[in-house]
Amino acid sequence: MTGKPASDGPAKRLFIKTYGCQMNVYDSERMADVLRPLGYGVTDRPEDADLVVLNTCHIRERAAEKVYSELGRIKEMRQARTEAGGGRMGVVVAGCVAQAEGEEIMRRAPVVDLVVGPQAYHKLPELIARAARQTGERLAADFAPEDKFDALPERKASGVTAFLTVQEGCDKFCTFCVVPYTRGGEYSRPAEAIVEEARRLADQGVREVTLLGQNVNAYAGEGGLAGLVRRLARIEGLSRIRYTTSHPRDMDEALIRAHAEVEELMPYLHLPVQSGSDRILRAMNRDHTVASYLKLVERIRAARPDVAMSGDFIVGFPGESEKDFEDTLQLVRTVEHAAAFSFKYSRRPGTPASAMPGQVEEKVKEERLARLQAVLVEQQTGFNAAQVGKTLPVLFERKGRHDGQVVGRSPYLQGVHAHGPERLIGQIVPVKITGSSLNSLTGELAMVNA
Ligand code: 5AD
Ligand code: SF4
Repeated sequence: MTGKPASDGPAKRLFIKTYGCQMNVYDSERMADVLRPLGYGVTDRPEDADLVVLNTCHIRERAAEKVYSELGRIKEMRQARTEAGGGRMGVVVAGCVAQAEGEEIMRRAPVVDLVVGPQAYHKLPELIARAARQTGERLAADFAPEDKFDALPERKASGVTAFLTVQEGCDKFCTFCVVPYTRGGEYSRPAEAIVEEARRLADQGVREVTLLGQNVNAYAGEGGLAGLVRRLARIEGLSRIRYTTSHPRDMDEALIRAHAEVEELMPYLHLPVQSGSDRILRAMNRDHTVASYLKLVERIRAARPDVAMSGDFIVGFPGESEKDFEDTLQLVRTVEHAAAFSFKYSRRPGTPASAMPGQVEEKVKEERLARLQAVLVEQQTGFNAAQVGKTLPVLFERKGRHDGQVVGRSPYLQGVHAHGPERLIGQIVPVKITGSSLNSLTGELAMVNA
């Protein structure tokens, strides 16, 4: 979270550090929203903050350790501030680490005033007030998600793109994953509430929404995700719709048809497959096979031939042999990814895989990850290079680092830098792509209508 308080601005300063997934980025924005009426404005300088929030992520190893070392730094900042005669700095740990080890955090890090789980953000003002009154009160509150969504205040859009949570939690229980334990079961917000929020965002100038959910394509509200996408596409001003993250087993025919028929639905799909070995997929409890996944990708590409595929991969899952790993490489070669995230398997206490035999040595994991990433980097670089010479519609989002530069995104989620006037921000304009790298594209405005 960045952004400085205006000079005549809020009386109190809030610093939020966000770890992990888009869901957390969204939650951090909502925490800033609930604290705004209390006079908190966001600062990007923790040392100046009256309130520091660490919005943590638990999905991979050492997350908790990172939080503790950050808390060590915060403790020093708080001391320096007190010695300099500044006001008291409140410290809150939020997010999935909070959920998973609330008590432990309070025990190990006395600097922390409050621990709050992902379902209790709407209660933050009350919890903070209580913690301030009686320092030492420790709460790891957890409330039903329905309460959370109903109780959050109206959104304020802060740009031309916005995240919109439509679903939370997960019932899939992949054997490596903590999400079903930390975020709870699947819950879908009612379609009506989502459409209403999207309308308000569009009224404030948002042109693109990314629908968020741990299992977004399992959205169980009226009409399913496909129905929701079609309703959102009809909202005036909303030109682009994306969604993430999806599970292959919830990718239904209606959603695939939406990719063929709904112009606003962007041709980019994050569809994690995790492994290219059926044996490993079974041990992961993924409920799909390599063949069923490949068939699915084929159907999606038949519906929308230019769709850019993205995914997540885990190497070194317990029992993964060299042959299993090579099967993953093979799958990556077959599918061709425009982007991907890849991870070494990390042992999460309490998950079934952490107790499985055949844990893979760290050195082997590292070596496999490097080999996999080499292929993925090559594919991503190639995908970006293939855009050179084409003219793509780019939604400009912000000024670039250099003077006279604007930055936006292609339909395929690639960052695009171009020279052009600031008034292009919020507009979708054709850009001729002239250069590419691993992470972004450069281009020239195809038409400058001054
Ligand atoms: N070890 C490594 N990667 C993991 N992920 C989730 N849990 C683990 C774990 N224990 C990865 C998966 C998931 C992504 C969000 O994080 O690939 O799709
Ligand atoms: Fe975790 Fe699997 Fe659920 Fe994704 S689908 S959140 S990897 S349990």
